[in-house]
Amino acid sequence: MLTKLQLAHFRNVQAASVSPAGGLNLIYGANGSGKTSVLEAIWFLSVGRSFRSHLSQRVIQHNQPHFTLFAQLGSDDRIGLQRERGGDHQVRINGEPAKRLAELASMLPLQLISPESFSLLLDGPKARREFIDWGAFHGDPQFFSVWSRFRRLLKQRNQLLRQQASTRQIAIWDKQLVQYGQWLTDARKAWVNSLNDALKGIIDQFLPDVPIRISFNQGWDSKTELDQVYSAGLARDLQLGYTVSGPHKADLRLRVDKMPAQDSLSRGQLKLLVCALKIAQGMVLSQQQQRQCIYLVDDLASELDQTRRTLLLEQLQKTGGQVFVTAIEPEQLAMVPWDKRFHVEQGRITEQQD
Ligand SMILES: Nc1ncnc2c1ncn2[C@@H]1O[C@H](COP(=O)(O)OP(=O)(O)OP(=O)(O)O)[C@@H](O)[C@H]1O
Ligand SMILES: [Mg+2]
Repeated sequence: MLTKLQLAHFRNVQAASVSPAGGLNLIYGANGSGKTSVLEAIWFLSVGRSFRSHLSQRVIQHNQPHFTLFAQLGSDDRIGLQRERGGDHQVRINGEPAKRLAELASMLPLQLISPESFSLLLDGPKARREFIDWGAFHGDPQFFSVWSRFRRLLKQRNQLLRQQASTRQIAIWDKQLVQYGQWLTDARKAWVNSLNDALKGIIDQFLPDVPIRISFNQGWDSKTELDQVYSAGLARDLQLGYTVSGPHKADLRLRVDKMPAQDSLSRGQLKLLVCALKIAQGMVLSQQQQRQCIYLVDDLASELDQTRRTLLLEQLQKTGGQVFVTAIEPEQLAMVPWDKRFHVEQGRITEQQD
């Protein structure tokens, strides 16, 4: 839980210090006031980059050499992050330089729901694979090292394929690839099973009468063993110069009446489905790891009618986690009691007292 958040020279925020509530926090203000920037700052502290721009320097306030972020988590942990225009960055965890960015993510598990979150359903499998891996990563401390190892091995295999290496040479790598790939797949499967259980309750609320089915596609034909996939596909992979099937192609399939969900749901329904997936993700984390994830919900009101806005807010509240919601007008979201409300105006953030 974020107990303190400080921003300096981040987007249009020159300097701000806020002490959010453990429950529901509302951030409201006019267009361009800096609401999304506050969520972006929290995201940056967990992921080490922005969710809006690939270029981290874009978030540095104009005419400033760097931005600085600081977060206090609970009463013990502190994260500090500074980024220079030239790209240099410093990340400190409890005063010590961080070794890997993944350390941040495991300290600060986040789920972001924004108007761009539709991409989870509309884009290719990459986003959905990352979504499953978020859960598997937080669910098992070994996941990150297995996943990194698998990626490196796959890269090496693809390089050998491009170089037209001998079958024997590639088979040596395949042995390890199978071992790590199978481990990854088992972890993903276990996570998706738990996710499905958590999802049912939420979907019944958000989208009753919509027969949504969610299934895991492991990235290759489920009747074939992974070692077979690599060996039987080798001739084709050599011809193409890359590995066609395997855990790197895993995906989550969402269907309504045998049709892909994105082809049969309305915009509002799609948004609710994305919200359900993300809320379920955090719920499984808290069930399995007794850890709460923080929810960032940018522009909650958009695409949703008043009934659905209420349902969504109630469901977020039920998670028991810390929630940050942005809105243009606070009246749009007056149906739940906010623990704290912050007004943003031209980059200045003020806590509102009732
Ligand atoms: N690097 C930067 N330096 C200074 N200002 C910036 C920088 N990048 C963006 N801005 C400005 O920061 C402001 C805040 O943007 P932000 O997206 O946070 O607003 P918002 O409150 O979420 O608005 P909306 O309601 O339209 O979504 C914008 O006016 C934008 O022009
Ligand atoms: Mg915004």
